[in-house]
Amino acid sequence: MSHTKLDEGKEFFGELAKKFIKASDFSVSENLQMKRDHSLRVAANCLYLAKALELEPEDQHIIELIGLLHDVGRFVQFEKYKHFDDTTSEDHAELSIQLISEQEFFLKMEEEERKLITEVIAGHNKFSFSSKEKKVMLFAQILRDADKMDNWELAVSLLKRDGTFSLPTISYNLPKMGLASDAVLKSLIAEKPVLKKDLQSLADFKLFLMSLVYDLNFKASFVWVTDRQLIKKIYDTMTKGDKVIDAYRKIRLHIENRLTEK
Ligand SMILES: [Fe+2]
Repeated sequence: MSHTKLDEGKEFFGELAKKFIKASDFSVSENLQMKRDHSLRVAANCLYLAKALELEPEDQHIIELIGLLHDVGRFVQFEKYKHFDDTTSEDHAELSIQLISEQEFFLKMEEEERKLITEVIAGHNKFSFSSKEKKVMLFAQILRDADKMDNWELAVSLLKRDGTFSLPTISYNLPKMGLASDAVLKSLIAEKPVLKKDLQSLADFKLFLMSLVYDLNFKASFVWVTDRQLIKKIYDTMTKGDKVIDAYRKIRLHIENRLTEK
């Protein structure tokens, strides 16, 4: 993808975010601004990973654009439903694709590029993703890592001293009270990502965030999250029962193993 096309995509994103934010009242606009800033950082994370993986400049442009556009459906979703829970609204990846598909800059692209962008965005929020096409798979892995990297960074930046988040919509408005659920702990003991449907409290949400390391693909992503100590910062705000301590120990070991990989 040419630099000009990337710039056209950036212009579309900038205008779209501005339009949605301008048209909404404060409680909505702070959520939309959060998603705009998330998208900008995911795009930057995609570029960081693309460079670490030594992709060609043309491919770096595509993955950067995918990172920027992957969540545009969130604007539509939040404006309509006032929350970010796909299970009780709509699949926000599908909303992103619908919105992008109507845009002139997108329609001008070659079919192969459109297909790549569509498939990678469609797969970004699914519990797991696989594709037989090598390029789709690689780009999806980059986007999924880049998205997780920012979910951790965003969560840590919104953490308050009392262990709650200053924007409750990021933790799906889950209640503060309650210890970790059995189903959540079970996933962690099995070293698997926690399922969103199992979340019942803020403690579950934090464990869910931490468990995402089990679905992280690249060494460069592990380096990134370790440098920022993001998993530790989330863990530090938790009430520590034996099972939570155990789960964290396993997570740390997993990270260490991946960091020592060649
Ligand atoms: Fe998303």
